[in-house]
Amino acid sequence: MIITNIGILTGIVPEGVLRKEGAAMAETGTLRNAWLRISDDGRIAAFGPMSTAAGAEGGVVSGTPLGKASLRPLPLSTSSSLRDNSYPAGPSPCPCPGVDRPADGTTLTPSPEAVLDAEGGMVMPAFCDSHTHIVYAGSRAGEFLDKINGLSYEEIAARGGGILNSSDLIGQTSEEEIYRQSLERLEEMKAAGTGAAELKSGYGLNPEGEMKLLRVINRLKETSPVTIRSTFLGAHAVGRGYTHEGYVQAVVDMIPEAAEYADFVDVFCDEGFFTVADTERILEAGKAHGLRPKIHANELAVSGGVQVGVRYGALSVDHLERTTDAEIEALRGSGTMPTMLPGSSFFLGLPYGRARAFVDAGLGVALASDYNPGSSPCGDMRFVMAQGCIRMRLTPVEAFNAVTLNSAYAMGLSEELGSITVGKRANLLLTAPGWDLTRMAYQYHTPCLRKVILGGKVR
Ligand code: NIG
Ligand code: FE
Repeated sequence: MIITNIGILTGIVPEGVLRKEGAAMAETGTLRNAWLRISDDGRIAAFGPMSTAAGAEGGVVSGTPLGKASLRPLPLSTSSSLRDNSYPAGPSPCPCPGVDRPADGTTLTPSPEAVLDAEGGMVMPAFCDSHTHIVYAGSRAGEFLDKINGLSYEEIAARGGGILNSSDLIGQTSEEEIYRQSLERLEEMKAAGTGAAELKSGYGLNPEGEMKLLRVINRLKETSPVTIRSTFLGAHAVGRGYTHEGYVQAVVDMIPEAAEYADFVDVFCDEGFFTVADTERILEAGKAHGLRPKIHANELAVSGGVQVGVRYGALSVDHLERTTDAEIEALRGSGTMPTMLPGSSFFLGLPYGRARAFVDAGLGVALASDYNPGSSPCGDMRFVMAQGCIRMRLTPVEAFNAVTLNSAYAMGLSEELGSITVGKRANLLLTAPGWDLTRMAYQYHTPCLRKVILGGKVR
């Protein structure tokens, strides 16, 4: 397939760049008036300016005119520094609809290639949502009312609500029904532009329940065009009927079986949930079974979770509503992606993560939805991006990098997804004409998506 007449092709990143940090977060490669070809195996095959199609007007690669350009300057929000200007726009196979030009450039061979006319819309990588808990049953709308009446997240949990409430519902609901409800949420995320997501267990809270959830995630992996990564979060709360110590041991004991399904292991390392010592035990067991950590840390208190995550080579440490400069220093130079979840700050009235301070300190950040029934009942990554700008003071390009390349990195997927790079999986969003990254975050609720393309197919 070839997409022609792309008004703005954005999110172009050279091969080998797996995440953005510090000042580089404010940059992404942009090409105006472009085409993009998708190979039969659903990957990005090539892209270039429409000028290479039929001697048309010309294009801009990250501010650099190519050919005879009569071009508007790039808006500041999508401009890039020289660092990202180095990717090649060519050699470009002829993007003319229905024809392929052989290497000698002499003969035109008709081909039945499908053409999608973008009509001047923006094409960007699909969102990557690196932290969700969408595999749950029923609803916690009752607690929503408790919250309005003034109870805190901790108070609701202490009354047997919260995560334990969801755990009871998992026990009462069939695997088939949990799959059906979770698929509905995944479809909702896909329609809003999410092309890859991490899904956690964590509402089973006993061996039977946790394995049930991991099997559901596995089934979603097999059936959905959304690329899915699976995380074992047995240590989400102490399961009913266990002592704290007994449950930590039970989680350690679940790991060998969980590792047959899961890609990662997670622990809610926070005040009132699991300690640093519990986390170390669980991460040791995970390591023995090849599970890399992704940690819940510093949501309710400065917990030590960031430091333990970095020590164990976590792919990401997530939440971070409460952090000091010590956490920034602990992350510096590590391979761990700090991931912030503005949806839970919004819903629970918590402080927002200090994304601006992290980026100014030279770190990268990812943003994710945390879609779950208790602290963030919303999987809309545009809303996440908007809050990254409005409440965390990221620029639209920084927020965009946080919800695409960096969130792909936080799932171990950035070699494959999260940018416009030749060879990557063609997970793309096409907007209506007139949209750019700034407007996406600014007018965050106005519908703008025309097509969601996953694995090269319109979904
Ligand atoms: O990431 N913080 C812990 N876990 C979830 C909330 C889960 C729930 O309340 O159901 C979160 O916010
Ligand atoms: Fe979470």
